[in-house]
Amino acid sequence: MQTVKVALGARSYSIEIGSGLLSTVGKRCQNLGLGKRCAIITDRRVGPLYAKKAAASLKQAGFETNIITVAAGEKAKSLSVVGQCYDQLAACRLERKSFVVALGGGVVGDLAGFVAASYLRGIPFVQVPTTLLAQVDSSVGGKTGINLKAGKNLVGAFYQPRLVLCDLDTLRTLPSREYRAGLAEIIKYGIIYDAALFDRIERDMTLLLKKHPRTLAEVVARCCEIKADVVGQDETESGLRAILNFGHTIGHAIEAISGYGKFLHGEAISIGQVAAAKISAEQSGLSEEDVARITQLFKRAGLPTKIKLSSAQRAKLFAAMKVDKKVSAGEIKFVLARKIGRVDFGQKVSADSINRALDA
Ligand SMILES: NC(=O)c1ccc[n+]([C@@H]2O[C@H](COP(=O)([O-])OP(=O)(O)OC[C@H]3O[C@@H](n4cnc5c(N)ncnc54)[C@H](O)[C@@H]3O)[C@@H](O)[C@H]2O)c1
Ligand SMILES: [Zn+2]
Repeated sequence: MQTVKVALGARSYSIEIGSGLLSTVGKRCQNLGLGKRCAIITDRRVGPLYAKKAAASLKQAGFETNIITVAAGEKAKSLSVVGQCYDQLAACRLERKSFVVALGGGVVGDLAGFVAASYLRGIPFVQVPTTLLAQVDSSVGGKTGINLKAGKNLVGAFYQPRLVLCDLDTLRTLPSREYRAGLAEIIKYGIIYDAALFDRIERDMTLLLKKHPRTLAEVVARCCEIKADVVGQDETESGLRAILNFGHTIGHAIEAISGYGKFLHGEAISIGQVAAAKISAEQSGLSEEDVARITQLFKRAGLPTKIKLSSAQRAKLFAAMKVDKKVSAGEIKFVLARKIGRVDFGQKVSADSINRALDA
């Protein structure tokens, strides 16, 4: 098992990564000194696979455990589902010291985290992420939230969990397309922060695709460490945290114009990162050799690296980039790489150079 400590003063917590952790959730919650009652929030896909095991562990540790099941997929991140969760928490008589266990992917984590952040002005919550994306990204850093009709993640709170348990065994049932999408974020950590991690992913891609337990545990732990490190330096996204958005300006726009659901997030940011690498070669000194390594690694992960766009779609893409939350004063800012492992945020990029990167 690997442990990553997230240092945030009084709100510090651990991320545990390994096999067989789900059946230890009760014991671990006991160690945190949480109240007697809890609710597992999960979705209709993950619940039938893992909720029983989690509930049994919690019950065995003496917790009164309720299970709240929401629809699977992005639509669960809505105000109406939040309302249903509040009602169920109240019906189960959850109190100040009671806690929420988020069992599922990033959708459940964001939803349950927001519910925990706001119910009774905040009750503790524990994350048990079951997708690769959630294990290396959404469960770390304390961002919780839901979508509005007007856009994704427009309502939310910064709210830290008391514990994150990444049971790698749960990834066995994850559809392979979802798994590969998670690899896109893993590769991102290498590019933005850690050349040695990037080298390792290159070396161990075959093992990663096979979900080799030790390789996966070490790589997931390193990614969590990097995210925790970045977030620890900039919890509320006033600066450095922006580097986590490498490849995301174009990636988010691709998701938006193709209708959410056509591309998984990881697929869209794979294309976005390859484009950002090409722009980096033009204006930040990234070598062509590094661009080729980056492109190749996404390909080996089974991810798309380019997109064919009509001129009408391209106009939509630019419009979408301009409404992205990360735009300030109408200017599109990018994270660009100088070399693998070293990036700068807030870089101005012209429309021409974005076009060239998408054409290349
Ligand atoms: N809070 C953050 O910092 C942050 C960061 C990145 C992404 N996110 C959010 O995360 C969400 C995406 O998360 P995701 O990619 O995990 O998607 P998801 O939660 O929708 O999970 C993907 C699908 O896989 C299923 N699933 C989950 N675990 C499974 C398992 N072990 N076996 C079988 N099926 C399983 C789910 O039911 C779902 O159908 C988005 O809403 C995004 O905004 C948040
Ligand atoms: Zn992402």
